[in-house]
Parts: sequence; C-alpha cells; structure tokens
Amino acid sequence: MKFRTAISTLLAFTASSVQGVPFSAKLHKKTALVLIDIQNDFITGSLNNSRAPSILPKVYQLLDDHEWPFIIASQDWHPKGHVSFASAHTGKQSGDTVNITFLDSPLKQETQGLYSDHCVPGTWGAEIEDGLKTRLQYLEGYRSPVNYIKKAQDHSVDSYSAFVDNEYHRFTTLNSELTIHGVETIIVTGLITNACVRGTSIDGIKLGYEVILIEDATDTISAEIKAETIQELKGWGVQVMNLTDWEAANPTGPKTTFRKEL
Ligand SMILES: *[C@@H]1O[C@H](CO)[C@@H](O)[C@H](O)[C@H]1NC(C)=O
Ligand SMILES: *[C@@H]1O[C@H](CO)[C@@H](O)[C@H](O)[C@H]1NC(C)=O
Ligand SMILES: *[C@@H]1O[C@H](CO)[C@@H](O)[C@H](O)[C@H]1NC(C)=O
Repeated sequence: MKFRTAISTLLAFTASSVQGVPFSAKLHKKTALVLIDIQNDFITGSLNNSRAPSILPKVYQLLDDHEWPFIIASQDWHPKGHVSFASAHTGKQSGDTVNITFLDSPLKQETQGLYSDHCVPGTWGAEIEDGLKTRLQYLEGYRSPVNYIKKAQDHSVDSYSAFVDNEYHRFTTLNSELTIHGVETIIVTGLITNACVRGTSIDGIKLGYEVILIEDATDTISAEIKAETIQELKGWGVQVMNLTDWEAANPTGPKTTFRKEL
C-alpha cells in the first residue's frame, strides 16, 4: 500500500513536471535532422553567399519547434593546403578547376573545383554559425544527441557528401551513427545546395534512407543553380518540400515558449 502511494506520488510529480513540455508527442521518431556545413565561411566568411543567411530562421525553427531523436551537424574541416584550395595549386585561382587522380584508382580522375581557403580547423570560418551553435549546445546537453561530422580532412581528397568523400575512398561515421540510432528518414538542410547538400542527399538515397530536403532551409549562390539541383535531386528520389508544408505534414502538438531565450 505504502509502495503504491509512493508510485502514484511519483507519477503525479512526473506528470506535472513535464506539463508544458510535451515533447514525446512532438518527437519525430526514426528521423534525424541533418544540418550540412552551416559554418561561418559559407555565410559571411571566405565563401560568403548573400543568399545563405535566409536559411537560418528556417533552421532555427526546425530546432526550436520540433523534437529530434538525433541531430547531425556536418562541418567542412580542411587542413591547410587542402586540394580544394586554389592557394594550394601554383598559378590557379578560385573558380578554376584541376584534374586529380583518384587515390586508389590511378586510371580514374575527377575534376576538383578550387575555392578560397575555407573551414580550416581553429579558424572562425570553420565554426558553426552562432545562433545554430547556441541551439546545438543547448540541445546536446539536454535532450537530443548531436553528432558533429567533420569531413574532407584528407589533404588530397575533397568531400561534398557528409557520408563519404568524392572518390568513395573513405566513409565518415555518419551511416553507422544513423543505423545505431534506428534512423530511417533524414531531413536535410544547409549549405550549399549544389555541393554538400546535393552530395549528402544523393548518398542518403543510395544508402536506402528516405531523404526529405527542406527547400527553404538550403540555398546556394543563385536561384537558377538551386532550381537545377532540386530538379536533379527529385530525379534521385529525394522528396522536396518547404518548411510550411513539412510542418503541416508533421504536426508537433502544442508549441512551448520554453526556448524563447534563444
Ligand atoms: C566574401 O567573398 C568575396 C568573394 O566572393 C571575397 O572577396 C571576400 O573576401 C569575402 N569576405 C570575407 C569576409 O571573407
Ligand atoms: C580535365 O579533364 C577533362 C577531360 O578529361 C579535360 O577536358 C579538361 O581540360 C581537364 N582540365 C584541366 C584543368 O586539365
Ligand atoms: C510552400 O509550398 C507550397 C506548395 O506546396 C506553397 O503553396 C506555399 O506558398 C509555400 N510556402 C512558402 C512559405 O514558401
């Protein structure tokens, strides 16, 4: 009897303490939110893009108004002198290309685009954008595991996809992490649409995930390039929808005011 009273007191306490934060009702089960390369260099730094900041309110909304059992934040993470840096190739400048031989397949070549130095560990440009960083730090310490995937760390191979490099030479831990967490669907957002978002979405499809691209939570240097990429991704089987439509299809229960301070 005493025990039963203790249990009901405990239940009553638990029920009242979670009221207002009904987060199990808001959980997007078996689904991971994937935030691609939302780093300073792609927004206001060396590869700044005037269209990029428009995705931030959408990305914040996905984090503030939804519960995720798993969140992935990828970061381009290049050593100094990386193969994608124009500065690493004599006589080349940003916008040029070079043909490079695959590490493991001497008969295969890929065309490598060249860019300004970007996303070098230890620099401000490599850091995740502040508003996103604050939210992730809050969530990872409390209710959602956040996995940071560093990519393109090899000097001689670039990596657009967060799953694997451009030569399919070495995989990151992303696929195994998603598998361990029982994830079946990935919600893809981030920068930039025609490079790292494209690569991650296509590999997601190849690996058997349901891939949903939130079209207003990704952007690139022009509307035309974005539209072309979205067309291509639809051909791969990626579902493309805006945040309003996605939220309508994935209701989350009552909104809390809980994270207003962010
Ligand atoms: C922004 O990009 C331009 C080239 O597109 C570059 O010249 C400029 O230095 C970049 N700004 C910053 C802060 O790196
Ligand atoms: C790279 O290879 C392609 C085709 O093999 C060739 O057309 C192009 O000129 C090469 N680019 C450079 C920069 O060597
Ligand atoms: C979202 O897409 C739908 C079409 O599916 C469109 O009617 C609506 O205006 C879009 N909303 C925004 C905010 O872009």
